[in-house]
Amino acid sequence: MNFKEAIEIADNVYWIGMYLENDPFQCHPYFIENGNESVLIDPGSMLEFDAVVKKINSISDIRNIKYIILHHQDPDLAAAVPEIEKLIDREDLLIVTHSRMVPLIKHYMICSDYYEIDRYQHHLRTDGLDLKFVTTPYCHSPGAFVTYDIATKILFSGDIFGGISESWDFFAQDDYFERARQFHAEYMPSRDIFNYALKKIEVLDMELIAPQHGSIIQKAHISPLIEQMKALECGLYLEDGYRNELLLNLSKSQRHTLYLKEGVYWDYDKRKLFWHDTEIILKPKEKIVLTLLVSKVNATVSSIDIFNHLYEDQPNRDFSSDAITSLIKRIRQKIPQDTIRSCYGVGYTLETK
Ligand SMILES: [Fe+2]
Ligand SMILES: [Fe+2]
Repeated sequence: MNFKEAIEIADNVYWIGMYLENDPFQCHPYFIENGNESVLIDPGSMLEFDAVVKKINSISDIRNIKYIILHHQDPDLAAAVPEIEKLIDREDLLIVTHSRMVPLIKHYMICSDYYEIDRYQHHLRTDGLDLKFVTTPYCHSPGAFVTYDIATKILFSGDIFGGISESWDFFAQDDYFERARQFHAEYMPSRDIFNYALKKIEVLDMELIAPQHGSIIQKAHISPLIEQMKALECGLYLEDGYRNELLLNLSKSQRHTLYLKEGVYWDYDKRKLFWHDTEIILKPKEKIVLTLLVSKVNATVSSIDIFNHLYEDQPNRDFSSDAITSLIKRIRQKIPQDTIRSCYGVGYTLETK
């Protein structure tokens, strides 16, 4: 591969970065060739300016750029924008970013107007272009997002999936997680916040991930890498004191409460159901049945067991599955959807996973 030239990574999509010698923090701008409405992604700093401009002009004309996507505010991806704007010299040039980023990005003295993705349903559709934006808050900036190109199924992922490494491969190899581990551990704020972003990303049908650092990730490596990333301790969790305190508090609270979904939880001590601080009022029979189900979380309780539990003081009463069905229906109306699963012909399971 000749890194002195632009490299086409999919139809009309190009890597236009440069190899910075002895720099473990390689930065990668990308270019989507789309005629008079072409797109420049995370163009970089003045360190790469000459090379980036030359590569764009080798594919198209820099004045064909109508959109510059900035996935967050950092100088390694945005510092050259004022100089690039001068070369593009278009009144209709737009900086595509999240509104939370604009108060910071404007300090580069960018003069173009902004296309704030959160004001446009996280989409950019123009002639020949269909980009979907997925927010990844706090990974690693409050307004951070990634860009999914629907035509090529490429995810331009900004800092997420970036790697830092002494040696650089254009395409990620089997050891890429090890190369990306340190960067994510240090830059992503916490494992749960990072997992929130990963869960939004993993549902996309991706052929390639093109990050702003590290290596381009091909389809075969994407799912295994995401699974490894999900288990990574990062940010605040790296601090032993914080992690231990957090885990201690979690285990304390988990002994007494069972979190369902959407802020709803069962308090074992009070034998009551809550939504945040507000009690969800249960009728006596509903409470008896829910108490039984929360005592056997994620296990199936048969309808007969539920019936016997409900009417233990009336041993001669005839079993009625309809009575149980309607009671479960009433309970379901008070708790988040899909919390109680029906096992046809067997019974019911209260699920927390
Ligand atoms: Fe960054
Ligand atoms: Fe970066």
